[in-house]
Amino acid sequence: MTLADRVRQAVGAVSDPELRRPIGDLDMLREITVDGEHARVGIALTIVGCPAADRIESDVRRAAESVAGIAEVTVDVGVMTPAERKALTEKLRDGRPARQMPFVPDSLTRVILVSSGKGGVGKSTVTANLAVALSAQGLAVGLVDADVHGFSIPGLLGIPAGTQPTRIDDLMLPPVAHGVKTISIGMFLRDGEAVVAWRGPMLHRTVQQFLTDVFFGDLDVLLIDMPPGTGDIAISIGQILPHAEVLVVTTPQAAASDVAIRSGLVARQTGQRVIGVVENMAAFTLADGTVVDLFGTGGGAEVAAALSKSSAGADPIPPVPLLASIPLSPALRAGGDSGIPVVLGDPSDAAAQAIRALADTLAHQGRGLAGKSLPISLS
Ligand SMILES: Nc1ncnc2c1ncn2[C@@H]1O[C@H](COP(=O)(O)OP(=O)(O)OP(=O)(O)O)[C@@H](O)[C@H]1O
Ligand SMILES: [Mg+2]
Repeated sequence: MTLADRVRQAVGAVSDPELRRPIGDLDMLREITVDGEHARVGIALTIVGCPAADRIESDVRRAAESVAGIAEVTVDVGVMTPAERKALTEKLRDGRPARQMPFVPDSLTRVILVSSGKGGVGKSTVTANLAVALSAQGLAVGLVDADVHGFSIPGLLGIPAGTQPTRIDDLMLPPVAHGVKTISIGMFLRDGEAVVAWRGPMLHRTVQQFLTDVFFGDLDVLLIDMPPGTGDIAISIGQILPHAEVLVVTTPQAAASDVAIRSGLVARQTGQRVIGVVENMAAFTLADGTVVDLFGTGGGAEVAAALSKSSAGADPIPPVPLLASIPLSPALRAGGDSGIPVVLGDPSDAAAQAIRALADTLAHQGRGLAGKSLPISLS
């Protein structure tokens, strides 16, 4: 191997922060020459003004400098030609035609909706933390904020206002926050634009576009943060993703259970499978041992029990477990405000531990069983 080959090998292993693949595989390397101890490395970025440009350039420089025998590095940064970009987008799509929704029933990506009946029960907070916890376990995780009227995921993950997906021709790359590929309606709005006037068909198209045009790459899990209730978006997603799994979030309060149960039943009507209940805002323990159950107790178990009952004459349904009970936690709330999810910022917090345990449970559920009913005959 010549010195230039070794530089090419080292530089080729640098990962593109948005595409999350080695730039050598993405055909982003151009000419590499070595003159004595001086390496000259040509790279081609996908687009002019690529937001990741500085990072790629410095990573490339560091990689080249790490090669024994190289003391000085010049990086020539260029931009791909339209033909090169077309080849790249085709390679990324891996044979899938454009405009085809990749999250089809036999894809390897688990799609998990996080929904609730009532608003404000902590869906978005739980979803953001769950996504980060799953990513920390090494899974490739995507997160779609489907709450078009009250999007909150970018803030919860510390994505600065105004951040846009990077566009490579007609391919949109989601920003990556704490390892999670994240997309939100908030990223498509101009300052102050309101979507209150949007009606069903417009919302349906928007969700369809999210799921089709945004390039997530190969994901293990796609989480979808749902708006509260069972409105247009829930119905659209039910039609677009009938194989999705559903987590129902509720509080321990008995009064919250009925709407939560209803949201689970509506999801099931579209063919989706309710895989469990998450109780949030549960009792917490003070330093002196006092237990404070602000919202009462038992709501999560109640919802799980109700969703485990099949209606008379219908096929038996698999039991719906209470998968987690997440206590009220100032740190969880503060992590949402600061954009550093508590599972990263304060991992010993009781809520963080409960969410990590939930991630663990979900990550170890067999993908093969997801969404499929087991051939058990009750004799
Ligand atoms: N376990 C918890 N302890 C303390 N605060 C919490 C907890 N869970 C959520 N919160 C806080 O409650 C508020 C509502 O949470 P969040 O926005 O996640 O709810 P949501 O169900 O997504 O609401 P919406 O229905 O509006 O989408 C936020 O201020 C959040 O920080
Ligand atoms: Mg929300």
